[in-house]
Amino acid sequence: MSDSLLTDTARRLAAVGVDNPRLDARLLWAHARGDGVVFESFVSRREAREPLAYITGRKEFWSLEFEVGPGVLIPRPETETIIETALAAFPDRTVPLNVLDFGTGTACLLVAFLKEFINSRGLGIEKSEKARGYAIRNIAKHDLGSRCAICAGDWADAADGPYDVVLSNPPYIRASDIAGLQSEVSRFEPRQALDGGADGLSAYRALAPEIARRLCPKGRFFVEIGTGQSDEVADILGGAGLEIAKVVGDLAGIPRVLAGGLRW
Ligand SMILES: C[S@@+](CC[C@H](N)C(=O)[O-])C[C@H]1O[C@@H](n2cnc3c(N)ncnc32)[C@H](O)[C@@H]1O
Repeated sequence: MSDSLLTDTARRLAAVGVDNPRLDARLLWAHARGDGVVFESFVSRREAREPLAYITGRKEFWSLEFEVGPGVLIPRPETETIIETALAAFPDRTVPLNVLDFGTGTACLLVAFLKEFINSRGLGIEKSEKARGYAIRNIAKHDLGSRCAICAGDWADAADGPYDVVLSNPPYIRASDIAGLQSEVSRFEPRQALDGGADGLSAYRALAPEIARRLCPKGRFFVEIGTGQSDEVADILGGAGLEIAKVVGDLAGIPRVLAGGLRW
């Protein structure tokens, strides 16, 4: 890529508010494999604030590559906190765990978990048909078809289990906050993956009893929360008979994951 093309492209992207314009320009060029016409179409999409990952069709999570695109939430680095917390709770990676992932999206959590816990099996439940397509392809891409399945439906439709581990990164943004998010998120990512209702907590209210009735007596849950939601979500989970053992911060120090089990 010539310096002048890099500078011009970065300037175009910066002008519309793209965060890392030079990096994005380089990545789009690499993805276009030097084809100028294809590159221009990618740059136009990025100028319209379409997420870079939707244009390249991939995103890394837990050092694994996932297929992404319109219709599925792009995996976020802070969600890796769920995997880190689960690894700390189960130091023996050979233990055969039965895991359920509520709202599986790309299946990033399920795939990362099953790659770490090599004798475990998993089920992902997902309401969105488009997202399920990505989940199924990502499971095949990582060769996990024999150890996991994706089920269509609402939270309550997940098979009864019981499960040793329940994971979830549910939608938790207040409905009224969505329009104010970055354009890449508010205009392109699926509303169903973001919208947590009027107070951001509706998915937790629906999920709490579903988690409680599917966990083994010594099972563990790991649930992602939005900024500032830890007390409220802990109350909701507690009301369903779940006990919080740990609140774990992400790399920015923001409380991000509630971990615990059934109250005894
Ligand atoms: C925040 S995204 C998380 C996706 C993925 N687990 C991740 O961490 O990147 C929440 C997911 O839950 C799904 N979802 C929302 N409401 C649901 C419901 N009632 N039943 C099942 N899945 C639901 C959405 O379609 C979306 O894929």
